[in-house]
Amino acid sequence: MAPKAKRVIKLHRKKVEISERTGKPKRIRHDRGAEAAKRQAKMTKEEWKRWQNPRVAKEWSRPEYVFEPRAANAIYVRDGGEGAYRDKTYEIVTRWTAQTQIRYRPHAKSPGSKSHLRYERYAKAKTIGQSLALGSKPIDWCYDFEHGFIKVVGGKVRDEPIDRSKIESDDELTAVDQAIMRWFIRELAKRYNLKVSDLRLEHGASESLMMRAHRLVANRRAKAILDKKRRISDDDVENVLQTWAFARNMGRLNVMPEGQDWVKSDTLGLLRDRMGSIHVTKPTSAYVSVAKMLNKWLQQRLPSAAASFKWTSINLNCNYAARRHRDANNFGPSFIQAFGSFTGGELSVWPEDDKSTGLSALPSYAKQTVDIKRNLVLFNGNTAHEVKPFKGERFSVVYFCCGCHPQTPRPVAKELKDLGFQLPSATEERHKLLSKPEGYGKKVTRVRKTVLKVFPAKK
Ligand SMILES: [Fe+2]
Repeated sequence: MAPKAKRVIKLHRKKVEISERTGKPKRIRHDRGAEAAKRQAKMTKEEWKRWQNPRVAKEWSRPEYVFEPRAANAIYVRDGGEGAYRDKTYEIVTRWTAQTQIRYRPHAKSPGSKSHLRYERYAKAKTIGQSLALGSKPIDWCYDFEHGFIKVVGGKVRDEPIDRSKIESDDELTAVDQAIMRWFIRELAKRYNLKVSDLRLEHGASESLMMRAHRLVANRRAKAILDKKRRISDDDVENVLQTWAFARNMGRLNVMPEGQDWVKSDTLGLLRDRMGSIHVTKPTSAYVSVAKMLNKWLQQRLPSAAASFKWTSINLNCNYAARRHRDANNFGPSFIQAFGSFTGGELSVWPEDDKSTGLSALPSYAKQTVDIKRNLVLFNGNTAHEVKPFKGERFSVVYFCCGCHPQTPRPVAKELKDLGFQLPSATEERHKLLSKPEGYGKKVTRVRKTVLKVFPAKK
């Protein structure tokens, strides 16, 4: 039988062969320089193999963290899930500068490919500035770092990634700074399926690009949960808090565990700043669905015995055990619950503390310790309290009312109400839900039930 004539059509003035099997135009794989790369290889396969010995492999091992399992709810959308690097890798690479001193693993990439040719060229670099000039790009730095091909041996590395919102003029930026910033914003947009324009930071936002990306994803998750119009579960709250990027808060000196100069903590809702301005905090207005979801979560499980509870603000805390302290300016009681996979981390409270005894002199017999993972707890934040040590990932969410609430400007109050905060009236009574502490002047033999209330958590 005579062979079948090939079906050929003209597409965009080019002749394209039609596949017999699929009936669609055959994809023509262009060489794109692969053959030339083979010819130009800087060494033979045999010579290259001599460099791939156990001694070299040990000296140039991959960083430990790349072997850790990825978080179950992490998002990897980049190019169908391929090529997404670890957050830790981005945190490392985005802090490099033109003067960061590096060494490349000799002959890490096998001959015959274009990446071998590129690698042989840029692996001569001794600084990141030279590496960029020799044709390597930030995305190559991520790949090479995760594969153990680059080592940082000295020079300048930033403490924090360069913050666009703090740059006055591009003149202060090196070619490396510019390459990292241009690439990183596009990389995060792809990785988290966000718009580049959404990732642009407003001046003074006090967020890194990575934080902004995480918070936008947290907000998107919170919105999706709210859109389902169902009960908000503890898992929903945990999921959003795991995605949220916490600010390094250096201002909460009273809770800071010993030896630390910052804690991961954010406040949503009303706050009075050091200048006396009473306002809604920036992350509240920038990520409204997070605040709305957290408010709805509490509204849906307010115990009937505390149905009149009011709050203007929410404190979010991540992975620190607050040392013994008293909150300075709370009005009325706070509701607290903890989330995450952890052991320990109970809350200890001195519910009759009236501030007349020094923090370190408080009687230990009067301490009440409650499991705030399994209970929603109403306590007076102005009485002494502390968190027990814990292991694992622990978040706590504290709903409280700012002492400055009677001075809340009207538009601020409107914004808070729209987000689901329950504002007290100007004449609200602060000891309506929990009795006024009586102090430890006379020995307290029993704890009054009216100073600390524990409600089993409803998942
Ligand atoms: Fe506190």
